[in-house]
Amino acid sequence: MAHSSIKRLLVGITGGIAAYKAAELVRLLVREGIDVQVVMTEAACQFITPVTLQALSGKPVFTDLWDSRVDNGMAHIEFSRDADAILIAPSSADFMAKLAQGAASDLLSTICLARGDCPLMVAPAMNLQMWENAATVRNVGQLKNDGIHLLGPNSGDQACGDTGLGRMLEPQELLEAMEACLQPKLLAGKRVLLTAGPTFEAIDAARGITNLSSGKMGYAIARAALEMGAEVTLVSGQSSQKPPLGATLIKVISAQQMLTAVMENLNNQDIFISVAAVADYYVLNPSEQKIKKDAHILTLELAPNPDILANVSNLPNPPFCVGFAAESENLYEFAEHKRRRKNLPLLAANLLQDAFGGDDSELVLLDDQGAHPLPRAPKLVLARQLLRHVVKMLPSTRKNRHDR
Ligand code: C5P
Repeated sequence: MAHSSIKRLLVGITGGIAAYKAAELVRLLVREGIDVQVVMTEAACQFITPVTLQALSGKPVFTDLWDSRVDNGMAHIEFSRDADAILIAPSSADFMAKLAQGAASDLLSTICLARGDCPLMVAPAMNLQMWENAATVRNVGQLKNDGIHLLGPNSGDQACGDTGLGRMLEPQELLEAMEACLQPKLLAGKRVLLTAGPTFEAIDAARGITNLSSGKMGYAIARAALEMGAEVTLVSGQSSQKPPLGATLIKVISAQQMLTAVMENLNNQDIFISVAAVADYYVLNPSEQKIKKDAHILTLELAPNPDILANVSNLPNPPFCVGFAAESENLYEFAEHKRRRKNLPLLAANLLQDAFGGDDSELVLLDDQGAHPLPRAPKLVLARQLLRHVVKMLPSTRKNRHDR
């Protein structure tokens, strides 16, 4: 299923060995349902032919400023007007220099100069020495100042035999970086605190009580919030998920540690999203040593854990609180009851079989207006939809808590 926020993309290919990866990129973009118009520089045609890109995009490829196939002879204006965004992949050092100078010496650079407010993203690809050269560093700074988005580069093996920065992002990474970059910055200036993953309640030095939460949903929301411009603090139980770049990550083990971390970081937060699967009970008097097995029945004494979310939502001046609920039956009824009991403006509910481990899920958002189902989608897509719903619910007059 396609989830891209852009419909029409102009892909510019410049001269570099990474041009071969542009073929796979265009294939992925088309599979996402995006209408792709490819424009290549003369140098790009030395590495890969327009015929390949034409077959993959299903459209004629343009290379020449003087191409007579465009009716009014103004391909540079037509193409930049038609596109929702422009992505240059790969972008050579030479092309970045052209962009930095505002040159219009071929079709692609002229399209970029004529783009108006169409977002421009470049995926650099070059040898390490070229990337580190003072002139390139200067050009990169200029591009950023001009509001051009840089996607990558990555570090790794290079075609010339060097290892280091300068590799173009892989096609799938580029697709993800592009989507992230184009998210509207609806949470700029906002602070978001999240809990994610399971808690682990120790029984002895080696064992404990935990659950199957992977942390995927919480980490996806943290990532989506970062993409939307928020400052993010993520309090996480044990999880193998990659921490989202740019978030402040606080690792905890038990529910009590999670509560402490949340309370210590609550000041000035605008939004609190409680995604963690917090254990309902902890073990009273866990053993410091590993318990030896014998023939007797072992009884564990359990005491209830504090409800972290309810602690926050019942504060006198709480941030906007969002809860999660995984239910095995009567989803709407049980989840709505939980929302009211915990005093929450918004709760995201899903079925238990969907809650743990999978990459996709299905959510129902419950608020005072009723139920808003979000159909099955990757967790990152659901995370973006959830945050857009939160943004709509934040009172427009609500100031950032830290401004009050
Ligand atoms: O009551 P239940 O555990 O089903 O509530 C789920 C919601 O409450 C989730 O948002 C979860 O993160 C939060 N919660 C919490 N502290 C607990 C139990 C649940 O913050 N001890």
